[in-house]
Amino acid sequence: MKISNQTVVIITGASSGIGKELALALSRKGARLGLIARRADKLNDVAWEGMKKGATDVWAMACDITDRTAYSEAIEEIITGFGRVDVLVNNAGVGHVGYVEDTPDEHIESVFAVNAFALWYGASVVLPHMKRQKNGQIITISSLAGVMPFPANAAYVAAKHAAVGFTRALRSELAGTGIDAMVVLPAGTTTDWSTLTEGGPILPLFEYEGKRGAEIAAELEIETPDMPSLLPPEEIARQIMELIEHPVPEYHTHPGSRELAEEYRVNQLELENRLHPFWLANREGYLRLQDKRREKAGST
Ligand SMILES: NC(=O)c1ccc[n+]([C@@H]2O[C@H](COP(=O)([O-])OP(=O)(O)OC[C@H]3O[C@@H](n4cnc5c(N)ncnc54)[C@H](OP(=O)(O)O)[C@@H]3O)[C@@H](O)[C@H]2O)c1
Repeated sequence: MKISNQTVVIITGASSGIGKELALALSRKGARLGLIARRADKLNDVAWEGMKKGATDVWAMACDITDRTAYSEAIEEIITGFGRVDVLVNNAGVGHVGYVEDTPDEHIESVFAVNAFALWYGASVVLPHMKRQKNGQIITISSLAGVMPFPANAAYVAAKHAAVGFTRALRSELAGTGIDAMVVLPAGTTTDWSTLTEGGPILPLFEYEGKRGAEIAAELEIETPDMPSLLPPEEIARQIMELIEHPVPEYHTHPGSRELAEEYRVNQLELENRLHPFWLANREGYLRLQDKRREKAGST
């Protein structure tokens, strides 16, 4: 789909990170935008910046996408305002920190609500419009964690796997309709995601795992796989723009990421063995984190 000043794109999670950068990149092409996220102040700032950068029009709708009624109404209002919808980008997402046995129900539920359940809510509203138009795209931002595992955030990993399954199933339902569904699988991206995780920031655990994992690998003489390097959100946004114009069903953004996912799929046991140093380091770091939290709770 050629992006022009007629293209209407709805982006969830547009108040920061990848969603914000995508909104600004689309603005430079003059697109018409419907932006959705909870933090109204940040969302309005993105909308103003988008207008300054050349967006034809921007609607900012502060809303929690886990509230099906509020989210559906926000999308309907945007579509009524613009008269059509070309692309829905399911970008909003939240992670958490916790091993399976420590994850409270409210974190399992909140993580699934944003990363998985809301995909049905958004698609159910845009699809009747896209079917009438006989075209459209639904782009869902999953993660490398949607096709392979990472410890200490199983609810996120499972919900991002659900996002991949959702897109695969949706594609099968959309055959012959002119509507496309795609899933994007980013690896580490330099946004606030890893500091806003439910249950506290997961970033210190990732940092500990990387450093200590290398030491354990050297001690055990294990050759660990190269993990994809961090990319900035501007680069992910640039790639999503490419994807809109040149669709690919399942799109890896980071160099080396597709190969890693493929190795996991065809040779799981061997890759797990090579990842063990990182996973052992993760457990060590997680237990230290738990001890620190207990100490802090005891001293207050
Ligand atoms: N950063 C990474 O390393 C990484 C890697 C792979 C995949 N991803 C995925 O990329 C997507 C974008 O994340 P990011 O890295 O750009 O992080 P981010 O800056 O934290 O962005 C997350 C966005 O989701 C919105 N959001 C969260 N819960 C919401 C809710 N209930 N209702 C509406 N909006 C909600 C947030 O806005 P409000 O708080 O204002 O609502 C924010 O705009 C996510 O799906 C994430 O899982 C990130």
